[in-house]
Amino acid sequence: MDNLLDGKTVSNHFKQRIADEVSEMVSNGHRPPHLVAILVGEDGGSKTYVAAKEKACNLVGFTGTILRYPDTITQDELIAKVEEINNDTEIDGLIVQLPLPNHIDENLVTQTILPEKDVDGFHDINMGKLAKGDNSGYISATPLGITMLLEYYNIETSGKHAVVVGRSNIVGRPMSILLSNSNKTGNATVTVCHSRTKNLKEVCLQADIIVAAVGIPGFVKGGMIKEGAVVIDVGTTRVDDDTKKAGWRLCGDVDFDTASAKASFITPVPGGVGPMTITGLLNNTLKARKRTL
Ligand code: GUN
Repeated sequence: MDNLLDGKTVSNHFKQRIADEVSEMVSNGHRPPHLVAILVGEDGGSKTYVAAKEKACNLVGFTGTILRYPDTITQDELIAKVEEINNDTEIDGLIVQLPLPNHIDENLVTQTILPEKDVDGFHDINMGKLAKGDNSGYISATPLGITMLLEYYNIETSGKHAVVVGRSNIVGRPMSILLSNSNKTGNATVTVCHSRTKNLKEVCLQADIIVAAVGIPGFVKGGMIKEGAVVIDVGTTRVDDDTKKAGWRLCGDVDFDTASAKASFITPVPGGVGPMTITGLLNNTLKARKRTL
């Protein structure tokens, strides 16, 4: 299909650029970027994502470390670990994979990470900078990866109507801010839709660009999409599928078959936004390393 936004290919393109920068850094006598991921518990999705992040780090020449803790770790122990990493000058970026067990306050943990090492862009300082259009902070990896994808394909956002479905702090909210900011992949008129939105279908039908980030498989159907719109699917829900070896498959928030018949461009699941999220994280980690060079 010729309307696919191929996240795999684009992420490989950006990874190569990052790898080239790392080789040059190392040949100039500097250590490579170092990303640490904290993984608490046994959540299957989190394990997969963290393993993919480590693999990507190795691929581009970063040092990638996973610190694994049982879900019995106390909040104080986890906070102490975060503080130790904050003070370690050999570590540039730290992510704590979410969700965390119920007895741990995710917001407290996220806000304990030093903003300069918060390569997930979840800290209030980084979110605040994004909201003010200050590019010196870190932008959450998925929205950042989506803008890299849009830029690669020269998709015009300026003056367009972008509809973001979902208002999560990880994707929907930062995505809506990025699209409205005065950036290369911004200057759009943005509408944010959520569970209380009335006439969702009518709003979506006005979108030149639609970003689906609600976490409900197949939620956005072809009948909600204007002919020629650009469709970005952030969904990654695991749904049971006996025909697959793992017993499940990834399902996006967009009903691909009906939507792709309308869209000028569309991201597949898997192979669309997912690989770009990892590339966004690598980009942030490289930026973190450059701060201290
Ligand atoms: N859980 C789901 N997405 C993410 C992410 O981008 N970063 C972290 N740390 N946890 C997540």
